[in-house]
Amino acid sequence: MTDTAGAGALPAQGMPAADVLGEIRALRDADRPTHGGRLFAYVYDPGVAGLDELAQAAYAQSAHVNGLDPTAFPSLLAMENALVGAAARLLGGGPGTGAPDVVGSVTSGGTESLLLAVKAARDARPDLTEPRIVAPASAHAAFAKAAHYLRVALDTVPVDPVTLRPDVAAVAAAIRPETVLVVASAPSYAHGVVDPVTEIAAVAQAAGVRCHVDACFGGWALPWLRRLGAPVPPFDFAVPGVTSVSVDLHKYAYAPKGVSVLLHRDPALRAPQFFAYADWPGYTMVNPVIASTRSGGPIAAAYATLRHLGEDGYLRLAAATRDAVAGLADAIRATDGLRLMAEPETTVVCFTSDDPGLDLFVLVDELTARGWHTQPQLTYADLPASVHLTVTAAVAPRVAEFGPALAEAVAAARAAGPVVLPPELLALAGSLTPEALTPDLVAGLAGGLGLAADAGAPERMAVVNTLLDAAPARLRERLLAEFVGLLQRPAW
Ligand SMILES: Cc1ncc(COP(=O)(O)O)c(C=O)c1O
Repeated sequence: MTDTAGAGALPAQGMPAADVLGEIRALRDADRPTHGGRLFAYVYDPGVAGLDELAQAAYAQSAHVNGLDPTAFPSLLAMENALVGAAARLLGGGPGTGAPDVVGSVTSGGTESLLLAVKAARDARPDLTEPRIVAPASAHAAFAKAAHYLRVALDTVPVDPVTLRPDVAAVAAAIRPETVLVVASAPSYAHGVVDPVTEIAAVAQAAGVRCHVDACFGGWALPWLRRLGAPVPPFDFAVPGVTSVSVDLHKYAYAPKGVSVLLHRDPALRAPQFFAYADWPGYTMVNPVIASTRSGGPIAAAYATLRHLGEDGYLRLAAATRDAVAGLADAIRATDGLRLMAEPETTVVCFTSDDPGLDLFVLVDELTARGWHTQPQLTYADLPASVHLTVTAAVAPRVAEFGPALAEAVAAARAAGPVVLPPELLALAGSLTPEALTPDLVAGLAGGLGLAADAGAPERMAVVNTLLDAAPARLRERLLAEFVGLLQRPAW
């Protein structure tokens, strides 16, 4: 006989709804605050009263609807087409524009949109045995993932340490006969700078290669900022040679997670994105996107969010975000030892430290201790370690509190001094090969650094970040993959 006692998520006897919700609430207490404008990554909070309730109600209405078959659930098709139409119009396509035939698909997120942009480009060239894509080093890591999943080679073009943009001549030089796609970001996630899209698209077009603009992060913010007068360079279908654009609705459209839009300039460009299969005894499967069964929940929630906020709402939120960015950037400029990586031109504030006495990773911990959750970015090529702030409208009412908190955190970080790793650990980080890393070694290392697998991340991460910073990229990947592997264990 097997043991019938309940385990993990499955109790032997079902629980009352209120108790279940109480459990989830208790679990959520350990999370970072998704609302309130003090978390500068992972979440996009407009701070609009009632919006969450609306999105949740819309989600609930469509949660059990299946996007697998648009003929069975026309409600979902109608909402998807409405989202694609809105995104296309916002991004230079649609009737009366130079890109009147734009089509698109709703995906689960930026990564899926980028995977599909790469798949469409790859599968449009079945003659190539070794397809390649060209992307600036600042392009989102999802392109590396797409290259890996799809067995496409990734040719990375370095970015200038001052402008944080790739040199267009270097992009042109990287294009080979096997190149199927050239990538530009609008903007890049790490630093929030918009690549020279016009020039990159021109070199791609001259070579007869597709050009994808990754506007996953900023595609729903830049058009409103431009309408408010910001000098946003052309980055969308208004640019000749741009063949596809992605924009995440779960970022600056402020929809709940699980919705992005991938647009193509015309249906022929989109066609190789689809997968259809009839050679089995079941239903003929036709999937425009990676998932087959898809919940209608995120799509309905995004639809409700766009309908409720409207153009006037997004303009208002963009103005609040712009002002918040300006206020945060002023706070950085006013702080001795800190320097903006780039003048903010979108919704990102990114700064570094020029002062050896002011350790950025310690500063991040000190900010966390004061309730401000920023995102450390490790040293990369000739770019220094930095701190990333994704700024959303909900930050605006908090900006006045940030300056004093930053000043306090800086003083505390200076007083604590930089992290000094034992020399043998530093040497290990510099010399260990990824292959030599065993799960046991990682577990020992994690334990030594206070990272208990069952306790989540510790309050203070500076030592861990310093160690990772000293390690080459391949080793960072392995260390973190092994560590996440330790976290992802069944709860019995
Ligand atoms: C520029 C850019 N592209 C793609 C992505 C990936 O999006 P997702 O996390 O929704 O898969 C992000 C996420 O931050 C991004 O900033």
